[in-house]
Amino acid sequence: MKPQNKLAFAHIGVAIVAFALGAMVALMQALSRASLALPLRSARIFYISVTAHGVLMGLVFTTFFIMGLGYAFSRASLGRVTGERVAWASFWIAVVGTAVAAATILSGKATVLYTFYPPLQAHPLFYFGATGLVIGSWGWCGVMIASYRSWRKENPTPPVPLVMHGMLTTVIVWLLATAGLAVEVLVLILPWSLGLVKTIDPLLCRTFFWWFGHPLVYFWLLPAYAIWYTVLPRVVGGKLFSDNLGRMVFVLFILFSTPVGFHHQFADPGISASWKLAHTVTTFLILFPSLVTAFTLIASLELAARARGGKGLFGWVRALPWGQPLFSSVALAMITFALGGFGGAVNAAYAMNSMVHNTAWIQGHFHLTVGTAVALTFMGITYWLLPRLTGKELRLSAAASVQPYLWFVGMMLFGVVNHITGLMGMPRRIYDAGYGGSEIAARWAPWTAVSAVGGVVLFVSSALFVSVVVATLLYGRKIEEPEIAFAEALDAPANPVRGIWDRWPLWTAISVILVLAAYALPIAHHLMLHRFGSTGFKPF
Ligand code: CU
Repeated sequence: MKPQNKLAFAHIGVAIVAFALGAMVALMQALSRASLALPLRSARIFYISVTAHGVLMGLVFTTFFIMGLGYAFSRASLGRVTGERVAWASFWIAVVGTAVAAATILSGKATVLYTFYPPLQAHPLFYFGATGLVIGSWGWCGVMIASYRSWRKENPTPPVPLVMHGMLTTVIVWLLATAGLAVEVLVLILPWSLGLVKTIDPLLCRTFFWWFGHPLVYFWLLPAYAIWYTVLPRVVGGKLFSDNLGRMVFVLFILFSTPVGFHHQFADPGISASWKLAHTVTTFLILFPSLVTAFTLIASLELAARARGGKGLFGWVRALPWGQPLFSSVALAMITFALGGFGGAVNAAYAMNSMVHNTAWIQGHFHLTVGTAVALTFMGITYWLLPRLTGKELRLSAAASVQPYLWFVGMMLFGVVNHITGLMGMPRRIYDAGYGGSEIAARWAPWTAVSAVGGVVLFVSSALFVSVVVATLLYGRKIEEPEIAFAEALDAPANPVRGIWDRWPLWTAISVILVLAAYALPIAHHLMLHRFGSTGFKPF
């Protein structure tokens, strides 16, 4: 492997190891929920594994993968990664932090689920480990910004390449998001878990958690969008329909991804209805850039398909390369994301939210969105990126072609069925859906069996993905690395000059003002109330 590719490869490697571990514990949960008598089945093991799955998939796999993508894309589009030493130091901080947090979870000392809501309390090492992962990611943000600034010095007039435009918005969203997380963990949780203060305010913690938690969703999604906008049209042999719309979409996510967190707290007391309404409005605003994305990408695909000889109103769809694993991954990810988006609109609507609150619907929702729209895109891009980073030809290509379809089928069985059982009243995060033989719970049983089958299909798909990666690394034939190249846009001007969408300090300043507008008053109001703290709870 060429030395300049090692940084990106190391990050993606850690991500895939986390994914493999996360997939293993997930299989056990799906079977456990269906009340299958597995050896070692117990509530304690179940909740350890739910915590491990959420942290490994939602926080470790995604964060490391995105950091690796950022380095690969920066190298390919700007010709540099500025500050490699800082990048490696940050990598190791994140790896050590992750290992400490994972060991704490697996030893049963941090069974707090991936949202780690107080008053559930973990061993302090869990919070220190998670902090290491975040500090490492801040190092990544610094290196990405430094790379951009160094490129900008040499290229004062052109707009930054669209793929880096997408990664820079990811960086800004992440910095805005983790500001809330830092307050929650460093100011509130760590002193309490170390015993320096006796009690904690759960509502204040949840508010800071969701300040972080919703933009976290866009931290996951924006790199997937960057792939959809800049890699996908080229892979299908076409052009991006509009570069300008893409730039606008990314910037809108900076503005609206953070001031929306109360849509996760509709059922929380102590936040006034008017603030919940304000966050609902911003939440619906953020559907807009995703609708623009759907339009732009479908237009790009249609143009490419017609250029390949596709005909008819919808017949062109057949002209797309459905056997090519990056294309099929992204296409299936996009279809699933449309379903997830409808569910998301239900979650975001105050009245309908109370119907699905804390039910299996929620886990169904995020398995369609982050668990498929994002994860399946990342698996697809892995097939594309591996030969480009390692100089090895992809092995087991038949498995790579089948794997995205298996993921899609598995997720339809698992994710869609969880929406149904959620509407039937089944809570999320339950170890046993039998409820001691209750009649209502008995009606869920056939559906939980279907979702368990979905879980098995997903596990097989995960195993195929990991096998392709391992086989390529071990037995891949040496080739000249193909180029990491991005799609051209239909509307690319001949002599481009950077425009309003490249004004990063301006957009960041506006988004900081929006975050303060959304949170300063409700938090100040909350702090003025008489607050009753809680001591820590460790149920296992
Ligand atoms: Cu949200």
